[in-house]
Amino acid sequence: MAKKNRPAESAAAASAEAASPAHTGAANGHDHNTTITSVSTEHRKFAPPESFAETARISSLKEYRRLHRLADEDPEKFWGKIAGELHWFKPWKKLLSWKAPFARWFVGAKTNMSYNCLDRHLDGWRRTKAAIIWEGEPGEVRTLTYAQLHHEVCKFSNVLRSLGVTKEDTVAIYMGMVPEAAIAMLACTRIGAAHNVIFGGFSAEALRERINDSRAKVLVTQDAAFRRGTEVALKDAADRALTGTPTIEHCIVYRRSGSQIAMQAGRDHWWHEMMAGISAKSKAEQLDSEHPLYVLYTSGSTGKPKGIFHTLGGNLVWSYYTTRMVFDMRDEDTYWCTADIGWVTGHAYVVYGPLLNGATSLMYEGAPNWPEADRFWDMVERHGVTIFYTAPTAIRAFMRWGEGFPRRHDLSSLRLLGTVGEPINPEAWMWYRSTIGGDRCPIVDTWWQTETGGIMIAPLPGATPTKPGSATLPLPGIDVDVVRKDGTSCAPNEGGYLVIKSPWPSMLRTIHGDDQRFKETYWSHYKGWYFTGDGARRDEDGYLWIMGRVDDVVNVAGHRLGTAEIESSLVAHKMVAEAAVVARPDEMKGNALVAFVSLAANATASPALKEELREHVAREIGAIAKPEEIRFSDALPKTRSGKIMRRLLREIASTGQVSGDVTTLEDFSSLEKLRAGEEE
Ligand code: WTA
Repeated sequence: MAKKNRPAESAAAASAEAASPAHTGAANGHDHNTTITSVSTEHRKFAPPESFAETARISSLKEYRRLHRLADEDPEKFWGKIAGELHWFKPWKKLLSWKAPFARWFVGAKTNMSYNCLDRHLDGWRRTKAAIIWEGEPGEVRTLTYAQLHHEVCKFSNVLRSLGVTKEDTVAIYMGMVPEAAIAMLACTRIGAAHNVIFGGFSAEALRERINDSRAKVLVTQDAAFRRGTEVALKDAADRALTGTPTIEHCIVYRRSGSQIAMQAGRDHWWHEMMAGISAKSKAEQLDSEHPLYVLYTSGSTGKPKGIFHTLGGNLVWSYYTTRMVFDMRDEDTYWCTADIGWVTGHAYVVYGPLLNGATSLMYEGAPNWPEADRFWDMVERHGVTIFYTAPTAIRAFMRWGEGFPRRHDLSSLRLLGTVGEPINPEAWMWYRSTIGGDRCPIVDTWWQTETGGIMIAPLPGATPTKPGSATLPLPGIDVDVVRKDGTSCAPNEGGYLVIKSPWPSMLRTIHGDDQRFKETYWSHYKGWYFTGDGARRDEDGYLWIMGRVDDVVNVAGHRLGTAEIESSLVAHKMVAEAAVVARPDEMKGNALVAFVSLAANATASPALKEELREHVAREIGAIAKPEEIRFSDALPKTRSGKIMRRLLREIASTGQVSGDVTTLEDFSSLEKLRAGEEE
């Protein structure tokens, strides 16, 4: 089982990193020439089912190639056609202004996200169509039609206005998966305030840091969220965060669980009280195409999270287009993306993409195994879900829980499956295809990032033959390559670095407040090209196989974590002198975190201290960042110039060659002497 379920490509990346300096080389600008080697030997190929292709928007590779060519040769026509399907208060004067690395799209145009998501559908029959169907973890179901959602969004936008929020401001949203989270996001876009959604699993510390960096004026939260039968006390965490957030003037609290919480007079307001009696008339602001849409924090290779800054027009167009093409979205579909709204997938593919297409988006509050491990399949059956989009980690969990759970349910409503967030191993892909998709549904493995704003590489389900584990081909309009250190293109099947060579509408515009870091992180490796931080190879058919991160970012269970961020949290603990966090392959989560810690002089190693340090990270950042394992060490192995030899630690963490009693200190001195020469 362990071997069988190991994610083939991320294992390849890990072993490639262990065998070559690619891992730190790319991120830290070392000049090594070793390439990444891939060990995948996957050769299966599945043509789109004929019945799917017959009705699909794009039904042949020929048509896909035609669109690709059109985007290259006549971008005005290509983008004009797509953008023209949406509402613009004022047309653009110029499609693109590109002064690398700064892009402006649909220059001079005026539009509004909430108008396009909602008002545009109100004239016709979609007015009474379900926009969001929500299911709470305890089991209640709420449906919001387009008219109802519009009503709520208009009212909440007036609540924000009444608290003085304008289009110059940022609103932080720290909520669970409730429709009000989507309502708050859409209300921000209606008045032109940028939203900064902070995942509900983040700690008070992480919340405070993100609020402060984005200079948010208002926080929207809820009393508590339901998760696996218990309550996650969001307002309590918010209260702790708000002790050190000078920019926050007001906090709006949605009542979800009814649990006891503290309300601070003057600062805190109940959602329902603010909404009572407020006008539902709210003009959608006519906003510049380059007006801020959102800031979303993601981990990078330093301790400080990056505020990825996105703007309106480009995201409007790309969320709309990719949802339409990659999910072949139809009015009859009931579409379910299981991502949390706190991640970029929740932004583009729970809220914006589906609503821009007038689709029905299912939203679920809780855990996939509550009350039992068939919750998702039970929901697919009850709601008649037709398109299902989830993460490989979840699929591997379903595999482990066993086929019995999906077999209890009729899954015949499904017509298309998707994955996102990390490489999917071919075994999980095949299981997904047969056990969930009944060998009838195409699978779209979608590669993209917080920075890209939307899907970049993915099959078009009626056109692109799929291969288990490959995200296949770039979408029309997207210009990717796999290159060597020197920028030359890799040969087929030669591993290299994934870059994007031309601007695209939903690309990040900068890192909030830090143009310099934006340039260094993404644009300094290859002049004029965007560096993704991922390793990849392209096979003889031009298919892309993503091999995982090549920088100090680790993908754990589909969540992006910066090892530097976890290290600085560990070092902040008084018992810790030094820490290095690395990843080892994990059959379930893709990667697991291992922290090597050298203790302060007065500290004594013990299992209790290990647990305390894990809890410390959970408190500082959030439970998702807890290291799986803590290993104590006298000293961390370093190069003569003082750089921690992470590759060596990764080897130790992955192969388990250095083991021993849980409380025994590991002595790296001999390894250090052996390796010091090569590392410099
Ligand atoms: C990884 C999530 C392989 C990749 C949308 C990327 C993937 C990082 C895939 C971005 C995929 C995402 N196959 N790897 N289909 N999708 N990744 O910002 O390493 O949370 O750089 O965005 O996830 O993670 P983020």
